[in-house]
Amino acid sequence: MNSNKRLSPNDPGSYSLPERVAVSHINLELEVDFTNEKLKGFVDLSINKIDEQCNQIILDILDLNVVSIINRDNGSALEYTIGDRLDVFGSKLEVQIPLCKTSTIRIAYETSKTATALQWLLPEQTLGKKYPYLFSQNQPSHARSMLPCQDTPSIKSTYSAKITVPKPLTALMSAVSIDIIDCGDSRKFLFEQTVPVQSYLIAIAVGNLVSKTISPMSKVWSEPEEIDKAVYEFEEIPELLKCAEKVCGPYVWKIYDVLVMPPSFPFGGMENPCLTFVTPTLLAGDRSLVDVIAHEIAHSWTGNLVTNCNFEHFWLNEGFTVYVERRINGLLYGESSREFAALGGLEDLRQAVIDLGAQNPLTKLVVDLSGIDPDDAFSTCPYEKGHTFLFYLEKLFGAEKFYLFFKSYVDKFKYKSISTEDFKSYLLSYFRTNNKTLQIDWDLWLYTLGMPPIIPPYDSSYQDVCEKLLDRWIKWDGSDEPFNESDISCFQTSQKIQFLALLLKNNITLIKIKAMQKAYNFNNNRNCEILLRWFRSCLKVKWLDPLELIFKFINNTGRMKYVRPIYRDLYNWDEVRQKAIENFEKNKQCMMYVCQYTVSKDLHLRD
Ligand code: BES
Ligand code: ZN
Repeated sequence: MNSNKRLSPNDPGSYSLPERVAVSHINLELEVDFTNEKLKGFVDLSINKIDEQCNQIILDILDLNVVSIINRDNGSALEYTIGDRLDVFGSKLEVQIPLCKTSTIRIAYETSKTATALQWLLPEQTLGKKYPYLFSQNQPSHARSMLPCQDTPSIKSTYSAKITVPKPLTALMSAVSIDIIDCGDSRKFLFEQTVPVQSYLIAIAVGNLVSKTISPMSKVWSEPEEIDKAVYEFEEIPELLKCAEKVCGPYVWKIYDVLVMPPSFPFGGMENPCLTFVTPTLLAGDRSLVDVIAHEIAHSWTGNLVTNCNFEHFWLNEGFTVYVERRINGLLYGESSREFAALGGLEDLRQAVIDLGAQNPLTKLVVDLSGIDPDDAFSTCPYEKGHTFLFYLEKLFGAEKFYLFFKSYVDKFKYKSISTEDFKSYLLSYFRTNNKTLQIDWDLWLYTLGMPPIIPPYDSSYQDVCEKLLDRWIKWDGSDEPFNESDISCFQTSQKIQFLALLLKNNITLIKIKAMQKAYNFNNNRNCEILLRWFRSCLKVKWLDPLELIFKFINNTGRMKYVRPIYRDLYNWDEVRQKAIENFEKNKQCMMYVCQYTVSKDLHLRD
């Protein structure tokens, strides 16, 4: 471990030391200024000394303009210093705090135009073209560019907010809406999050937004133009929530809404409490991508209740969430379907290990992030390697016993932030009389590079037809064309996706790819998971024909899962590299910070 590159001993990515002084409540009062692309106002931090000798609090800030800091209880000014900026990590804000054990400080500040958490969209970048839009993405470490805070997932606080926005726009947050106050040209939206949350779960979206109710607990939000499509796509939410409760225990967040974001949203989904943010690429028209919703719902327990203490233990968030996502799949569609989804994940993992390089330390389950930007460390590994480990443990102890353990783990660590060690010692104490625990090689699972050390056998009934069809293509000698639409007409969407994942892994000729387009017309498919794997297969054999469609695909979405691998493939093809770079330069203004930043690295335009 490179300890001098860690910003603090417990979290390599945050200066704050919440083990000494902890923020227990955050009250935000902000005005959304679209003209200057700024949030301005103040934040009140209620602080609680753990170490009573400590007379200062350390906060993380990135590109914030701090105007003043006062003791809110008596109005007196508090001294503070701002340290040098350390690239993406930002700066240390040290504030001298009152002597008493608890106090509240008020920091007046403004965000900057370049705040990495925020994306400001012009009216022409929205569906309706009439009103501007703002949204945030704070995970992993961008909250510090939206508000001064202890930007580490090791500490949680409740929050409240008053957000002033121009009429007729609507503000939404990862909280319960309390009231809306009319103020002439503007409206004030009041929110309250009464369950303590880590900084990366504070989220905001402002735009011309409407909602439709799908159950007493859930609404779907979007711009008016796509609300009906969104409601259709996500109508299964109440069933998903019921299944998730069966796996994890009671839902504590009161409401579960979904907001369909503008296309530049860089992720598939983000588990902001009370209000999941999702990419519009989920609107496939056939509900075939609801596994992403199941995933974000699952985070209501794994991630949002039981939280990784820093992003070196990210697999505790994501591996556990993929595990719950697939348990939900199993409850709804049966064990074979669940295990088929796991096989799909395994293909994604194989691809990710190839992309990262099998010797890359980031392929470990638990990683060392000293001096590493967590945006650079993001990959499928914690998701799928984590899932494989939990599935292995389920098989080892037996489903019945492991299901009970899982619920008890959530109950034990809810409202807490934990490390892999906490999970390990709880599992060992829970199963202390069960000698199966002796079989677990912890170091092997947690620290080996590349693919998981053990891959348990999965039910392959859904997989077999995909493999059979691919086999036919591989063995085909080119004489008359024995393929057509009917080969895949009874495939589920997930089987088409898996067929293409297997295709991508194999070396198939350009002639066969062309014949496949003629038979199945993947070029014009509307499902982005299909398009991703299909276009990558086309790029692998350097087929020029679909190139325009491929550029259209990456120019119409900012979802990094799609944009990054395609740009990497384009870069690796000498003849189109320059065109890819020019395309990026032309379109980067429409991308959110994190997508722009990672793609410019993928294209070797920065180190
Ligand atoms: N919390 C993540 C998204 C995230 C991770 C944002 C790290 C920033 C940093 C979210 O829950 C997620 O995993 N989304 C996936 C969904 C998929 C695994 C079903 C995505 O965006 O594709
Ligand atoms: Zn997730």
